[in-house]
Amino acid sequence: MVKIELFEVDHWILSQSSDIKHNLAHSYCLPKSLSDVQRQAGSSEIGTDVFSPVLSKTLDYGPMKGSEALRSNISNLYSSESSSPLSIEKIVTTPGASLANFIVLFAFLGPDDHVIVQYPTYQQLYAVPASIGADVSLWKTSQSEDWKLDLDELEKLIRPNTKMIIINNPQNPTGAIISKQTLEQIVKTARSYSITVFSDEVYRPLFHSVSPTDPEYPPSILSMGYDNTIATSSLSKAYSLAGLRVGWIASHNPKVIDLCVNVRSYALITASQIDEHLASFVLGPPVRQLIEGNRALAKQNRNIVQSFIDKNSSVCEWARPEGGPIGFIRFVMSGRPVDDVVFCTQLLEKRGLLLVPGRKCFGDGVNFSGYVRLGFGGDTEELIAGLGALQNFLQNEYMDVPVYPGA
Ligand SMILES: Cc1ncc(COP(=O)(O)O)c(C=O)c1O
Repeated sequence: MVKIELFEVDHWILSQSSDIKHNLAHSYCLPKSLSDVQRQAGSSEIGTDVFSPVLSKTLDYGPMKGSEALRSNISNLYSSESSSPLSIEKIVTTPGASLANFIVLFAFLGPDDHVIVQYPTYQQLYAVPASIGADVSLWKTSQSEDWKLDLDELEKLIRPNTKMIIINNPQNPTGAIISKQTLEQIVKTARSYSITVFSDEVYRPLFHSVSPTDPEYPPSILSMGYDNTIATSSLSKAYSLAGLRVGWIASHNPKVIDLCVNVRSYALITASQIDEHLASFVLGPPVRQLIEGNRALAKQNRNIVQSFIDKNSSVCEWARPEGGPIGFIRFVMSGRPVDDVVFCTQLLEKRGLLLVPGRKCFGDGVNFSGYVRLGFGGDTEELIAGLGALQNFLQNEYMDVPVYPGA
């Protein structure tokens, strides 16, 4: 029987029964309605234009790789920043990035394979390979190095049966980004050993300090001139629309796409034509304003969290996130990490603030005691209210939180 670990982040959020007044456990940009998206794009006709084609659509299974209009708009996202265009044949849609990741891992990995996974990261990216029976090596990073990947370490981790290097750029939970230079080195190494590089890019293109015109702007893994690369993404995070449940897999290698289409057939046959139609609308003309708005909001909110951390620097610190709407903050008491699970539990009980405990939800491959993940992509007033609740807790109840016994 296939065994898979408890999915800790989702389990943590699901199992918190106290009243949540301030939810900073999320990892998306401010969720929006389709009317919001349309309004932001400057259209006054809200509703009818978007939905009328859906009403007349014959609801058969639809195309086996996903809607052509949607894949064409996804293709534009990549083609606009790369000299090698990504044709729609190189894209397969999925209901969300979770299923995209699942399909890629299931299509590629077996018990004889070894994978190297950037760490910390989203649990799915190492727990699913392990459940399939693959050997997993965590490519560990630390806050003291700004969560940067060590390329010498990568060389040491490679084995004769290493099939895949898995990265997440920008990264959950730290908001760290992998620079263009490091991506080039990863690809160079992978190419020399014929290893596939799989990049979960669900937080792209939310970068805070580099703009797309900057030569240092981190490209998608698909723009690195190596065919054995795979990218996944979705509308859930940078594009504010987790409820649409639309994501995708893309690769320049037709064999990769064929393998994924086969697994996709087993898992879902095809995706919802209605969801895909709506996603295609979002990734059309409105996408530019949507992303620009989310970038500006996340950057402004990140500064607010930075001010909070500066003010409380005797008890907390972070490596400032350079991408994505999340950060990983370490809380200490007299220099020793607090028990992050007790901390988060008490924060919720006493101040109604929901955060994500690092040690529990991001594994023990590295000691994450004292760390919490905080989402700052949402509404600014709600963020300020949540940080206010945290400040009150720090002033009145923090001294009762134990340090982590193993620290
Ligand atoms: C790195 C990463 N990949 C994938 C997902 C899943 O996203 P989706 O909502 O598109 O399934 C998440 C969700 O938190 C994530 O953080």
